[in-house]
Formats: sequence, structure tokens, C-alpha cells
Amino acid sequence: MAWQTLVEVCYIGEVIAKTAAAGGSTLHPLVLSFSSSLGLDRALLGEDLVGSLAHLTMLARCGILDRASAAELHGGLCALYEEVQSSTLTLPAEEDVHMAVEALLAERLGDVAGRLHTARSRNDQVALDLRLHVREQTTRIGLQLCALIDALVARASAERDLLLPSYTHRQRAQPISAAYLLAAYASMLARDLELFDFVYAGADCMPLGVGAIAGTTLPIDRRITQELLGFAGVTRNGLDTVGDRDFGLDYTYAASRLLLHTSRIATDFVDFSTSEFGFLALDDEIACGSSMMPQKKNPDVFELVRGKSGQAIGNLTALLVTLKGLPSGYNRDQQEDRAPILQTAPLCHGVLEILQLALGKVHFRRERCLAALERDYTQATDLAEALVQKGTVFRVAYQAVGALVRRAQELGLGLAQIDLEVAQAVDPLFTAEVLERAVLTRALSYKHSEGSTGPEAVDAQLRDLAATTQKAKERYQARPRLADLFAALQKSLS
Ligand code: ARG
Repeated sequence: MAWQTLVEVCYIGEVIAKTAAAGGSTLHPLVLSFSSSLGLDRALLGEDLVGSLAHLTMLARCGILDRASAAELHGGLCALYEEVQSSTLTLPAEEDVHMAVEALLAERLGDVAGRLHTARSRNDQVALDLRLHVREQTTRIGLQLCALIDALVARASAERDLLLPSYTHRQRAQPISAAYLLAAYASMLARDLELFDFVYAGADCMPLGVGAIAGTTLPIDRRITQELLGFAGVTRNGLDTVGDRDFGLDYTYAASRLLLHTSRIATDFVDFSTSEFGFLALDDEIACGSSMMPQKKNPDVFELVRGKSGQAIGNLTALLVTLKGLPSGYNRDQQEDRAPILQTAPLCHGVLEILQLALGKVHFRRERCLAALERDYTQATDLAEALVQKGTVFRVAYQAVGALVRRAQELGLGLAQIDLEVAQAVDPLFTAEVLERAVLTRALSYKHSEGSTGPEAVDAQLRDLAATTQKAKERYQARPRLADLFAALQKSLS
């Protein structure tokens, strides 16, 4: 009774098959249930089958597997892959996805199924599946990132003339264009594109063929498998290979950093859509209600985007802690990499997808943005710089403008509303030309420094961002995707 209850708790909740390869019939059902990863690693079916097709092709080409057996196994694996695609495959309750595939092949093909695992261990097999997974998902995340950056760039181009305050310490700082704000978000995400490229490169090394830990006496050729699977190289050392999950750490770190970035973007959207800021209005389609307060239009979507970063950071932490202190070689602890690694892609896809949608459903409230500037002193630095351009020492100019701000505050006016007479009474340094810099509609046109909110500078940023995503998309086209690998492997024996 006690262990039956526990079996349910152990996620699988099914009777696990007792194949000899997975521990034999002597294992206690609770041990089988506790040690199973099938509930999670069934998500690696596509990768596992593609990997097996490549392995089988290599075995056949090296003369380790006879043609007839190879053809039978090839047909069986291709059929399984098609069934995965059409979601018609039911997996037997085995310890993991690798044993489930082997059990299915045995059921369908008989004894020949036992030949597939020649010169292979689940230790190198799972490393391959995970590397294929990380390669595939980083490319998908990269494509989604490109789409979001492109959408931000398009939106920025449409919001060039809209002014709002920027913030340091969450206090109004300097006027910026909405285009500049959106380009800042896109720039942050463009760095994540680069990071996911790094992750891809780290995962792009073929582990199969090192066996359980020390290689094999059989005359395999790892380079064939590498080429069939489109990897850039093969892993250097088997003992290292079976214990290595660095590609998983890099991947979960990249996802954490991406979701940290999106959480920061989300906070701006949450804040800016409050009545206190009032810069953004949310379409009803993305504004959630309250079950009690009839007047509410809540930014739940952005709060959830922010909240999901916790899971991403949790995945990275879980993997770091799981791997810390493990002895060299493979250890079963590593199976606990499955949840953090496999949960990462859905998390990233979900956040990027909803942000893409939500971006099209938020609207800047132009008059509220401008009002926040008009009642304030965000042009103060520009005024001081105008004095510097006329030869005043910056610190002197800084103090003069500081005095002008204090005077404006006494009068209950914004900096834009101060007239020349008042300004000159504060300090004769102020001229009409200097005060011109307080006119908000022209404020940005005086900025020309690279990376600034000046209109030409922002245009350059947007052009650069568009070129960055364009190049990324071109790079992705050259990457082997799982479906393409399968298509090629379908013909690999002919
Ligand atoms: N289910 C295991 C995992 O995913 C497969 C490797 C098991 N290796 C072993 N020697 N028991 O990590």
C-alpha cells in the first residue's frame, strides 16, 4: 500500500516494464517507478529516433551490421518517427525513452531489434539526444527572438515622434523617443541572440560512439555519425563526454538571461500602464479583469512574463546543483537534468510568443507621455550642455541650471514654461538660444551622439538591429534541423 501510493507520487504512476536491459525482473516496482524518466524524456523521441537512424547507418557502413538487419531496423525506426509526427505512437511503460524505443522495435521486428544498441550505451545516447534537442530548440528560440526584435524595430519606426521620459532610479531623467525605448528592448534581446549562438556552438559536438565511458572495441567510425547528424565535430574524450552537461548549463543560463530581460521589459509595461504613469493603454484582448473589482484592467500577461523568469532561473539552479560534485563519468544523478533542460524551451517559446502578441496590443498615450515631460525638468542636462557649447564650464552650467530648476519649482512651472526674463533673473548666462533647448518637441533633434536618442542615432540603431536579425536568420538556414536530418536519414541506406 505504502509503495503503491509512492508510485503515484513518482510522476509516472504506471507499471514500469522490467526489461533485462533496464535492471531485469528482480527490481522492486517502486525502484523501477522511482528511477524512470520516461514521463519527461518521451519529449526526446524525435531526437532519439534520428540519432538511432544515424547510428544504425554508421554501423552498416562500417560493416558491423549486415544489410538485411540494417534495412529492417531502418524501416522500423522510420515508421516510429512518422508515428511520433502524427501523434499516433503509444509508448510502452519502460524506464526511459531509449528502452521504450528498443522495446517497440523488439515487439515489431523481433530479435533483430537487439542489434541496434551495438557499440552504444544509453550514456552516450542520452548525451546525443540532449545535444540534438538543445541545437533544435536554440534555433527555434533564435527564430522567435528575431521575429520579436523585428516587431520591436517596426514598432519603433512607427513611434519615432512620440516623446516620453526616460528613468534612472525610477525618477524622470531625460526625454527620449518611444523608438529609443523600443530599440533598447530590441538591443537587449539581440544580445540574447548572440548568446544562443554560443549555446548552439557548445552543443554542436557529436558524443555518440564513446559508449558507456571508454569507447568500443568494434570498428566504428564516429565521423560518419557526426556527418550524418550535421555536427561540427565529435567530442574529444569519452569519460568527459558521458558526464558533460555544460551545453545544458549554457542553455539554461541563456534562457535565464533571456527571461530576466523579458521580465525587465514586462515591468516597464506593467508600470507604464498604471494610472500613475499612464503612458500605455492595453487592449481588452490582453487586459485581464478582477473577480471582485469591476473597474480593473490588469496587466496579468506582463506580470506572468515577469513571473516566468523565476522558473528559468530555477532550472539553471537545479542543473548547477545536480551536477556539482559529481564524480567523473556518468552518474544516474544526471537523469535529473531532464526536467530543467526540457522545461526550458516551452518556457522561452511561451514568453516570446505572448510578448510578440502583446506588443501589437499596447498603445502609447501620447498626451500622457508629453504631459509627464511638460510638468518636469528632464531637459535640464540639455540646457547645461547648451551653456557648455557657449563656453561655460560644465560644473558652472550645472549649477546655473540647478538654480533655474529650483526657481521653476517655486513658480510651479515646468522647465519648458520658463520665459527668458525669469531665467535671466536667475542667471544672466541664460539666453533665448539656450532656453530653446527646453522646447520639448525639438529636444531630441540636438542629439547626434552615437547610441543616443537623437533621431538619426535611433535610425542607425534600428538599421543595425534589422541587419542583426537578417544575418541570424541566414545563419539558421544553414543549420541542420531535426526534420531535415530525418528526411536525409530516410535515404541513408540506399
Ligand atoms: N535513463 C538514463 C538517463 O537518462 C539513461 C542512462 C542510464 N545509464 C545507466 N547506466 N543506467 O540518464
